[in-house]
Amino acid sequence: MYRKPVNELTQDEACDELRALMETLGAANVAYHRDDSPEIDDAEYDALKVRNMSIEARFPFLKRPDSPSEQVGATVAEGFTKVEHAQRMLSLTNAFAPEDVFDFDNRIKRYLGLPELDTLTYTAEPKIDGLSLTLRYEGGELVQAATRGDGSIGENVTENAKTISDVPHRIRDCPEVLEVRGEIYMSHEDFISLNKAQRQAGEKEFANPRNAAAGSMRQLNSEITRQRPLRFFAYAWGEMSKPLAETQAESIHRLAQMGFSTNQLTTRCIGPKALIQHHALISARRPELGYDIDGVVYKVDDLDLQARLGLRSTTPRWAIAHKFPAELAWTRLNAIEIQVGRTGALSPVARLHPVNVGGVVVSNATLHNEDYIAGRDSTGTEIRGGKDIRAGDLVQVYRAGDVIPKVADVDLTRRPTEAARFIFPTVCPECQSPAVRDEGDSTRRCIGGLVCPAQTIEKLKHFVSRSAFDIEGLGAKQVEQFYTDGWIETPADIFALRTRYGSGLQQLKNREGWGDKSAENLFLSIDEARHVSLGRFLFALGIRHIGEVAAMTLARYFGSWPALSAAIDAAQACAGPSWEDILSIDGIGPKQARSLVTTLVQPAERAALDVLVSHLQITMERVPETTSSVAGLTVVFTGTLERMTRAEAKSRAEALGVKVSGSVSAKTDIVVAGPGAGSKAKKAADLGIDILDEDAWLVRIEGG
Ligand code: IVH
Repeated sequence: MYRKPVNELTQDEACDELRALMETLGAANVAYHRDDSPEIDDAEYDALKVRNMSIEARFPFLKRPDSPSEQVGATVAEGFTKVEHAQRMLSLTNAFAPEDVFDFDNRIKRYLGLPELDTLTYTAEPKIDGLSLTLRYEGGELVQAATRGDGSIGENVTENAKTISDVPHRIRDCPEVLEVRGEIYMSHEDFISLNKAQRQAGEKEFANPRNAAAGSMRQLNSEITRQRPLRFFAYAWGEMSKPLAETQAESIHRLAQMGFSTNQLTTRCIGPKALIQHHALISARRPELGYDIDGVVYKVDDLDLQARLGLRSTTPRWAIAHKFPAELAWTRLNAIEIQVGRTGALSPVARLHPVNVGGVVVSNATLHNEDYIAGRDSTGTEIRGGKDIRAGDLVQVYRAGDVIPKVADVDLTRRPTEAARFIFPTVCPECQSPAVRDEGDSTRRCIGGLVCPAQTIEKLKHFVSRSAFDIEGLGAKQVEQFYTDGWIETPADIFALRTRYGSGLQQLKNREGWGDKSAENLFLSIDEARHVSLGRFLFALGIRHIGEVAAMTLARYFGSWPALSAAIDAAQACAGPSWEDILSIDGIGPKQARSLVTTLVQPAERAALDVLVSHLQITMERVPETTSSVAGLTVVFTGTLERMTRAEAKSRAEALGVKVSGSVSAKTDIVVAGPGAGSKAKKAADLGIDILDEDAWLVRIEGG
């Protein structure tokens, strides 16, 4: 093929050719390294690379950020592709004190309807402080590795996982499909050597082994990951074509037999006392383990019981993490600043002299609210012996798990004489609107609403955040930039960016951090985000009291945006049974219902919402995959259930796609009535609704 000599190329031709070379060389790299099937021979590959470099040498300003000359060997990825987990990757609820462990045990027995004196068997094992990974094997072959991501969708890191020696590429004596889950981590020794090497190479050092492990897994070039000393412990599983065993402990044993590293400190314990003893033992061994752990995980051993206990939205009922006490450190509080959140809440933040708290450098901590600073709790009772917190104080800071650092105490003997009592503002520091406290609320809020720039920006940040619209390339930093430049003020403006600024692409790409490609990519990911599920959409609106779980509950109940907005309008007009309808939803209380309706009926809010909706295609929530005949029905449980507890009945039904309601109305399809059922069963009979006893219901859901 004839190619013009480089010194005869015009700027436009050079630009086009660099793009084409990037694509050809990129595809060749993928074919060679990922698919093991080279498409072009080595000589041609080298010639194209030389041509690319010559053009770049003549037009250095046209060099692309993703230039092939910057990529060495191995997999070239533009970013990681996304992977939808066949089964959600869960997180764990926490216990801090022995009482929490006894509560956990009692909760489980209550849920299962077991006598209080029964002793349950659990497994107890270290909670590894790393990042979770799922490995999918088909026919014994490792076919995919993915990070947890938001629990539903993670990143495909197969190439990187394959470089880790603890991750077997092939396993024997296993089910046809098996997803093995566990933790990637780095040992203390390896972490110290890695940081030393980074320092010597003039590269950035990592703050702790966990960050080092995460940074190493996130490399687009798997050759870099290969050089990082990562390890993997297997402790759980996802999709499986056949169970591994009948208990947690035996399943882990089988994983070990297949060649996975499993933790030697995993033990079976009978009852909560034994769990706490094992916690003490692991805690004592912690300094000599050689890797970071942040607690002990307890799991119900019997897998049938695990299945009966099931899941809450993101955590299993059958497991808990008993964390080690928080790390503490003393430092100077330089200033108290007020941040305004998306609901107008004024949150005091401590700006600290940077201090290392258990491996992480902390320079900000929350001070909660004005009462907390003054030394009182929400009921007016003294905390910290009534000591207030002042700028200039020496304060004790702690970190518990992943949560934001907090200020626990203040040392009055070290208080500078000039330190003055903090006066909490009664006007918003951002828009000067009054900041008021409602009765019974410990938070002071700016009433500025849309007038307040801080609330507007925080709302936008929330809108694009990970659990909401999750627009790639549009994070908190970009939102702030676009807001400051007057490009976006409302969420709807995001979706009008291309039309409004399409011609202004030039403007965008000339800004710091933006190029041709990143601008186009941004528009593409905005387009992708137009398809959004109803649950995410509702959550993204940032309505007070409507968090992820409530948003999902509403989405499942109403099914579509028109149905939900009609219910809100009717509730506002007090028409029909709409308030009752919203309040009957299991998991939606009066506080949430009121917030939802009062926010969404405000004319300005509603007008903005209508514009936003016109840009979107709002899809139904992903309902649990089920072929059950009861999916989609509304069911009310009443009276005493004898074969399972109310909680278990509810979650089993929900897993089959049933909407469980607390009250009987014309919308109810079935009432399941046990002994002692009263007015609800009567109302159902009056309305001609099907009434089943517990056994008949079980036959119905178990298919006879
Ligand atoms: S079990 C079924 N076991 O802790 C629940 N998790 O805070 C799945 N983790 O996302 C988790 N060590 O990344 C489990 N021995 C262990 C663990 C462990 C560390 C992590 C895991 C999870 C997080 C939850």
